Amino acid sequence: MKKFLVVAGARPNFMKVAPLMREFRRRMEQGADVSVLLAHTGQHYDEKMSANFFRDLDIPLPDVNLEVGSGSHAVQTAKVMMAFEELCEQEKPDWVVVVGDVNSTMAAAITARKLGIRVAHVEAGLRSGDMSMPEEINRLCTDAISDLLYTTDRIAGENLRREGVAESRIRFVGNVMIDTLYGSLERARALPPVNGLTAGNYAVVTLHRPANVDSAERLSALLGVISEISHQVPVLFPMHPRTKKNIESFGLQSLVEGNGHIHVTEPMSYLPFLSSVAGSRLVLTDSGGIQEETTVLGVPCLTMRPNTERPITCECGTNILVGDDVGRIRSAFSDVMRGAVSRRAIPDLWDGRAAQRIVADLIENH
Ligand code: UD1
Repeated sequence: MKKFLVVAGARPNFMKVAPLMREFRRRMEQGADVSVLLAHTGQHYDEKMSANFFRDLDIPLPDVNLEVGSGSHAVQTAKVMMAFEELCEQEKPDWVVVVGDVNSTMAAAITARKLGIRVAHVEAGLRSGDMSMPEEINRLCTDAISDLLYTTDRIAGENLRREGVAESRIRFVGNVMIDTLYGSLERARALPPVNGLTAGNYAVVTLHRPANVDSAERLSALLGVISEISHQVPVLFPMHPRTKKNIESFGLQSLVEGNGHIHVTEPMSYLPFLSSVAGSRLVLTDSGGIQEETTVLGVPCLTMRPNTERPITCECGTNILVGDDVGRIRSAFSDVMRGAVSRRAIPDLWDGRAAQRIVADLIENH
């Protein structure tokens, strides 16, 4: 019997492992001779950053929680490696399946590979070219050592080939996060808008990257322009714990609390958040995955970063890179308000069946 160990650690991982776990279980019910375990590293541990997602996404609770928690990058990575090594030695999986680009992804991949366990990376090949992003380092390390690289789009495959990766390791399968989106959209759309906002007439803001929120100057400039925008369309702002902490420590509360048009909430779970994005006029974000979700939903997305590892969303989707330049944010916002931003196409294979392709390949070909 072939044994798979799937790993998730942080919020953006949960919607990616959900369709994989579902598909593994479906194949097992049909008699496939495999077993699968889900390990949660515990990188994200708050109810609102973790447990809520398991409920919303209907994923069975993790078989194991390594409970590593927060820490510096080195501490967090090392803790995952130590705990995950012990788990691998106990469970002796044939394959470890990692998703995305968080510290847990890289830590689990390196640990497994050094134990001689084969590693599959789901969402491989994304590159921002920006080595100041911890996720870029995680992507490069994970892809360099993984046996199988499952890619979401054409550009990711091109990146890997440019780095000299053999064709036999690359599989273009589509986007598991979009599997989850399609599987959840009907339930999400049935939810009432949060805070009494009117569908089609509000913006959703998310902000959490260290580059944007760890500097008082940059955070205050971004909050300033968000505050300006909120006078034209009300803003829904589910706030990441890091951002909340920094707004308080830099004394910037008045920029978000004072004007009455910014609705700050706790981090939202998957369905209410998807519902909010689907019903919004536009999104301003520095997230990775939201650039893809808005592309599929056709909602204009202003990405407050100088670069993106997901250029396909700019090429055919609704994504516009605005960096932290207040002028660019204002002008892209006015483009959106006059209806000048729309989607050209949904990227190939973002069709809700990526997990089926991945699990079929893992079970049948390896
Ligand atoms: C991580 C990922 C990032 C992803 C983001 C989504 C890495 C390098 N980064 O960043 O790619 O976009 O998750 O949220 O892996 N905290 C809590 N509760 C929690 C988790 C974190 O309060 O459940 C706070 C802690 O103060 C912690 C801080 O948030 O120190 C940062 O958490 P961490 O997991 O280190 O990174 P994120 O910024 O969340």
